[in-house]
Amino acid sequence: MKRREFISTSVGGIAALKSSFSFSAESTSRQPKDIRDQFPRLENEVFLNAAGGTPLGRFAEAGMQKYLTLIREGPQAGTRDYFDTVLDEVKEKFSSLIGAQADEIGFVECTKRGEQIAIDGVGEKLDRGGNIVSNDLHFSGSLHNLEGQRRADRDVRIVKSEDFAVSAQRIVDQIDSNTALVTLSLVSNISGHIESIAEIARFAHEHGALVFADIIQAAGVVPIDVRNMGIDIAACSSYKWLFGIHGAGFLYVAKEHQGTSLPDALYPGRGIRNYPPFRIETDTEQSDIAFRAPSSASRYQPGHINYLGYCAAYEGLKFIESLGVARIQNHSVKLNRQLLDLLSNSDFEIMSTHLEQSPILTLAANNFDTLRDRLGNSGINVGIGGDKWNQIRISPAIYNSENDIDRLAEILMD
Ligand SMILES: Cc1ncc(COP(=O)(O)O)c(C=O)c1O
Repeated sequence: MKRREFISTSVGGIAALKSSFSFSAESTSRQPKDIRDQFPRLENEVFLNAAGGTPLGRFAEAGMQKYLTLIREGPQAGTRDYFDTVLDEVKEKFSSLIGAQADEIGFVECTKRGEQIAIDGVGEKLDRGGNIVSNDLHFSGSLHNLEGQRRADRDVRIVKSEDFAVSAQRIVDQIDSNTALVTLSLVSNISGHIESIAEIARFAHEHGALVFADIIQAAGVVPIDVRNMGIDIAACSSYKWLFGIHGAGFLYVAKEHQGTSLPDALYPGRGIRNYPPFRIETDTEQSDIAFRAPSSASRYQPGHINYLGYCAAYEGLKFIESLGVARIQNHSVKLNRQLLDLLSNSDFEIMSTHLEQSPILTLAANNFDTLRDRLGNSGINVGIGGDKWNQIRISPAIYNSENDIDRLAEILMD
């Protein structure tokens, strides 16, 4: 097996973070059996594909059940209070996870919606010849969108990776005074590559560009501090390392960009008809339709949201909080190392470069066709295929055990 060196992210990147958030508890006493018991799917499968989406936990199901009871039967047995608590606290919890303030968090239905808000926000600069900089380790759905933007005559610069990594310098080389947006996956779903985001952001800001980070493969498993990392806008859905479900995601917009560099395109709020017969006494300070300018990241969200999904996400965030991100991250990193040790004599190329921090380990296999069949019949769930069509992506989570890795190694080495 070809082994690439374990490479650290640059200073100011993830390695340098010493988070003071509640999510950073070094270790908690929660036992592995208790954790595994939360995930019924593990009874049938060796599930090593968190990067594709984590199995539904009992805690998330219970949260959603309370919401379903509320809308089926009306408020009873505390279901309304529970729902109010979720809405009060879910942004607070997410903001604490990423080093932001609650009023910097909005809801989006998916990660790419957040990225689109960033692209639309700099639309004017783009239309004046501005450019977008990214790289090919970014999410394929985003790359497709960026290719669409390019075809719509926008200047889009996608740096090609070398050995499934891209140095900060090569991204920085593409940034100039016309750059409107740098958009990257903080942790790549392809190789687990971790961007040196702080270094890139510093340069981007010097050139007047905004930085968007897709944090779906980081939030809940790799420490994030948006402020220290220089991230202006970020987004993720909640169905991966946040233990939620599809359709309930989070948007972060730094306070200073809200309504300024990221202008308002919609104005959520309640337009009260400020005249008779709707109002007996007209408020002379207000227009006919009373208007209060939105003043938090909810300004990017048009209306009602996936309440059911946020109940799951809320419980997922509490689950993460009960463990601490450091413990969750260490667990994944340790299991990936275990696999590499077991595979050391076999025929795989390691495509991942940040194995000491990233939860994602991608291997390219020479005998992929045989392996795919063996994996298909094994009851082991890993990501398989990829653009190169011979990749196996392993992304163990806190619910996985050393035994899971032994079983995967047996199949891979058979
Ligand atoms: C890096 C990355 N970004 C985004 C997504 C999903 O995007 P969305 O939430 O827009 O569906 C994935 C899913 O695999 C991903 O791995």
